Amino acid sequence: MSNVKLDYENVKQYIKDEELNKYEIKTKLAMSELKQRNDFTGFIDLPNKIDKKEFENIKTYAKEIKEKAQVLVVIGIGGSYLGAKAGIDFLSSYFPNKNNIEVIFAGFNLSGTYLKELVAYLEKKDFYINIISKSGGTLEPAVSFRILKELLEKKYGEKEANKRIIATTDKQKGILKEMSKEKGYRTLVVPDDIGGRYSVLTAVGLLPLATSGANIDELIQGANDERKKIWSEKFEENSCAKYAAIRQILYLKGKEIEVMSSFEPNLRFFGEWWKQLFGESECKNGRGLFPASLNLSSDLHSLGQLMQEGRRNIFETFLVLKKGNKDIKINKDKENKDKLNYLENKSVNYLNQVVHSATKKAHSSGLVPNLTLTIEKENSYNLGILFYFFEMACALSATHLGVNPFDQPGVEEYKKNIKEMLRR
Ligand code: PA5
Repeated sequence: MSNVKLDYENVKQYIKDEELNKYEIKTKLAMSELKQRNDFTGFIDLPNKIDKKEFENIKTYAKEIKEKAQVLVVIGIGGSYLGAKAGIDFLSSYFPNKNNIEVIFAGFNLSGTYLKELVAYLEKKDFYINIISKSGGTLEPAVSFRILKELLEKKYGEKEANKRIIATTDKQKGILKEMSKEKGYRTLVVPDDIGGRYSVLTAVGLLPLATSGANIDELIQGANDERKKIWSEKFEENSCAKYAAIRQILYLKGKEIEVMSSFEPNLRFFGEWWKQLFGESECKNGRGLFPASLNLSSDLHSLGQLMQEGRRNIFETFLVLKKGNKDIKINKDKENKDKLNYLENKSVNYLNQVVHSATKKAHSSGLVPNLTLTIEKENSYNLGILFYFFEMACALSATHLGVNPFDQPGVEEYKKNIKEMLRR
């Protein structure tokens, strides 16, 4: 059984058994198609083929950064940013922990205010930069890098600054690779056969995660265990294959929007990573599910209205933790002015579970098919499982749909326009 438990009871009234069963053979075909491709499918076996030397370098650099800096600035956009951000949020405590290094992200926007404030903040901090760009030439991270590199050089002198820059980029080509050779930056590699949004288990995600305190051995172990399950399990037991199949069946029945809903604030950026992975992989040639995400309970008081009574072109995927890492109980209050004594001794996580059940029931009665994916709790091992699970689900789902899961021609279009407009 997969480490991600799939409950699809609430889609059964929309999908006949034989419709789902047809995907058993479709999944076999999609898996063998993916295995035969020789373009960007390196992510499939990656957890079992970790480059040991690169892995050790990542750990060494992470240790050095933790010893010498208060802040690591990770510069990147899209697949070069969201996985690390999602993972760090999932694993870190909600409130600043003095023992941990601060990881700040940049390069995912062109806000002058953001960069001006970041420069001011970093002036008083010891910091390192991890610039991440597979192509080496994306405008947003390149601009942030130029500005923050200038600050680093001003602060430490060029020689020391160069030691405080680690570039994660293509093995051979691109502007960033050339700069690294010239300036002597240490480099980590985004492998040729792994696309940006499938790269979180390469140095792209591993250096920021390891620096923030994640256990990257356990992370890769989790991903590898999930890989073995997904590639060996029968369709019936295979949560990943079934999830990919169910979303396709629902899509073909007019459910064109998939909403991922979660109840833990630390899953918010996981939703952002998931949207990027699925949106960029699947939505092309006039096809594909629109991936959206909700953060509950808060969004129950806003988009909850749309979920309940808006256009019925939606289905919902709840991503939940079986048992959060921590919990707190509600005590008896002797005055009971808030009339909450009936909750005495109940834990807040228990209330969160009740909110999940109540929401499932409400949205089901509002004719929103919904499924639930459950993972045990927040740790590095489970994070590895989740990353691999969704990467594979995405590749399978896009293959079922008949689109290339690994290109992004639409994204290239805006990049081309920016270059033309700025040069003019
Ligand atoms: O998934 C992708 O390929 C994209 O989202 C890229 O990660 C994003 O465009 C950043 O590209 P690069 O790493 O080349 O700067």
